[in-house]
Amino acid sequence: MRMRKKRHGEERLARCAEFLLTDPAALFGDPASPFYGREGEIHLEIGCGKGAFAVESAARHPERRYLAVEKVENVMINALERAEAARESCVGNLRFLIAHAEDLENWLPPRSVSAIYLNFSDPWPKKGHVRRRLTAPERVEQYKRLLAPGGRIIQKTDNDELFAFSLGTLEEAGFETEFVTSDLHASSRAEENVMTEYERAFSEQGKQINCLICRLPD
Ligand SMILES: C[S@@+](CC[C@H](N)C(=O)[O-])C[C@H]1O[C@@H](n2cnc3c(N)ncnc32)[C@H](O)[C@@H]1O
Repeated sequence: MRMRKKRHGEERLARCAEFLLTDPAALFGDPASPFYGREGEIHLEIGCGKGAFAVESAARHPERRYLAVEKVENVMINALERAEAARESCVGNLRFLIAHAEDLENWLPPRSVSAIYLNFSDPWPKKGHVRRRLTAPERVEQYKRLLAPGGRIIQKTDNDELFAFSLGTLEEAGFETEFVTSDLHASSRAEENVMTEYERAFSEQGKQINCLICRLPD
């Protein structure tokens, strides 16, 4: 089913244009870019949805630069408007990109990213769709090229099958597992956790949240 364009979508995007990256040059260190003129680790969220995690994370960590990627323009409009509404706390260190995960190497230089967040990625449960998972071996190899030595992948999901699959592909690719839990909100990392929209909805239904953190060796 084709998704209908959001009403006044283009004007709404234009009103939040400062948050939206449209030129890859801005990502390759263009000194005129207000975001990339700044220092700080690059933290990348893939599949950011309506942006709650990215906006809150950028506000909590002004010393980092956050790049939040989403492939669906309609969804991105909500994320951009959320950022615009909180602009005082995130305009300096948060940018959004409408793109597919598969194309990120057109935008980001190798070894430039300190952390990749995969929050409630689509599970693609059918056997024939396994390659579409964001932790499929091909994607994991791409993350290895994008991550700086010592860089981390942080996955949160309610889906046990995707979680087990991800632990397998990441380990197979040489990542070191630093933290694993099947109940994030009861774990030692609960306090520093930033909730996503899906996470909030699943928690309200009483579901436990899986979380893993793994590190690319130096
Ligand atoms: C299930 S939603 C989760 C949204 C948000 N991360 C959260 O936790 O609330 C997954 C999101 O990832 C996006 N997405 C899925 N595959 C993607 C890809 N290959 N590249 C970029 N975004 C993708 C979808 O469009 C969707 O908005």
